[in-house]
Amino acid sequence: MFEKNVYVNRRNNLKKQISSGLVLVLGNDDAAMNYPSNPYHFRQDSNFLYFFGLDIQGFAGVMDIDNDKDYIFGDNVDMDDIIWMGDQPTVKELAAKVGVENASPFKELYKFIQGEQSKGRTIHIYPPYRGEHTLTFSEILNVKTGEVENFITEELIKATVALRSIKEDVEIAELEKAANIARDMHVTAMKMAKPGVVEREIYGQVEGTSLAQGGPVSFPVILTINGQILHNHYHGNTLKEGRIMVTDAGAETEMHYASDITRSVPVGGKFDSRQKDIYQIVLNANMNAIKNVKPGITNKELHLNAVKDVATGLKELGIMKGDIDEAVNQGAHAMFMPHGLGHMMGLDVHDMEGLGENYVGYGDEIKRSQQFGLAGLRLARTLQPGFVFTIEPGCYFIPKLIERWKSEGRFSQFLNWDKIEEFKDFGGIRIEDNILVTQEGYKVLGKPIPKTIEEVEKTMNE
Ligand code: GLY
Ligand code: MN
Repeated sequence: MFEKNVYVNRRNNLKKQISSGLVLVLGNDDAAMNYPSNPYHFRQDSNFLYFFGLDIQGFAGVMDIDNDKDYIFGDNVDMDDIIWMGDQPTVKELAAKVGVENASPFKELYKFIQGEQSKGRTIHIYPPYRGEHTLTFSEILNVKTGEVENFITEELIKATVALRSIKEDVEIAELEKAANIARDMHVTAMKMAKPGVVEREIYGQVEGTSLAQGGPVSFPVILTINGQILHNHYHGNTLKEGRIMVTDAGAETEMHYASDITRSVPVGGKFDSRQKDIYQIVLNANMNAIKNVKPGITNKELHLNAVKDVATGLKELGIMKGDIDEAVNQGAHAMFMPHGLGHMMGLDVHDMEGLGENYVGYGDEIKRSQQFGLAGLRLARTLQPGFVFTIEPGCYFIPKLIERWKSEGRFSQFLNWDKIEEFKDFGGIRIEDNILVTQEGYKVLGKPIPKTIEEVEKTMNE
């Protein structure tokens, strides 16, 4: 955990932004996988980690805005816990490590909150994303499960997004660490991408590389020779010459900060000419977008520039045609890049997405588009120093989507169906990096990961 002042300052900053009431933050519990004592890997709630730092099951924290007091609720370990899991400091000792004086058994949380409610005080909660939390909230707040959502306040969400969006130096150091682990994961994948290898052999090594250096992966690894399926989690294909292997994978550090990197490499270590053409288009979009990162620019601008880069490149290959500005304006390019340029990243790989994507990526500033492709842009608002986010353009040939649009005669003025037919078996390419917005511009997090055609081929053939 960080030094105690980090947590004290965060809670003080939150209190300044909330007008009154109490903020109740539930930490996570173990979640049973197939029977109660065989749980999934434990992951603490990110808001609890951010404000209360304790990476342990079964805790809750409360911030009393009006009385400037903080509380931790949790249970001391008993002899059974000590025998099976080892000793732990007391709750009082743990609370002190994060600057909280008031520590009580978990069951007292119910009485405490209900007592404050009876005085007419507002209780603020975050949107629950686990069923157990909804049940616990319903008991603590003494309401039906369907009424729990009435306690979620926009005031708390907005204040939290404002704080967590600007990364502190200690967080940036963690995010750098996560990016460096991802570098090792991707170099491992590149070196293993040979014909005859089964995807899961590489997938296992990639995930193991993360585990060996800190934490588990920050989201389920995408590693596939069918990269046209954007979030492909099937790992049973045998690698073949002529396919591109897309690896979209990141690590969590011990402190739970994430990385999220994508590299796309030719099976066997040599791009053929068609692969080179598409790869270079995506690479240009990635590098131009990164180069233009600076405070004050909106990520929507970066996204629109990137999709224009992709569309312009595709026009040069004869895949798209006509006026590219107009094609992008109407959304014709989205057949090839149906997703957004990127998302915020921090304690969550899609940072704070559980609070509501529009609060994180749009705020009151920009309205989300409904247009296919642009609607998938998770981060659109103005970039500020301290933001950490991903830049991940891609180009995909999705046979079913191509067939659908072609049969509907969609955007025929911008899409050259005969040429597209030649690429229907291509697969997909995505190139993703993690970027910090600085006062002057940007910093790509982590040590460089092979990315140009030459760098990728060199690494794969070393
Ligand atoms: N890397 C997966 C995603 O950003 O959705
Ligand atoms: Mn991503």
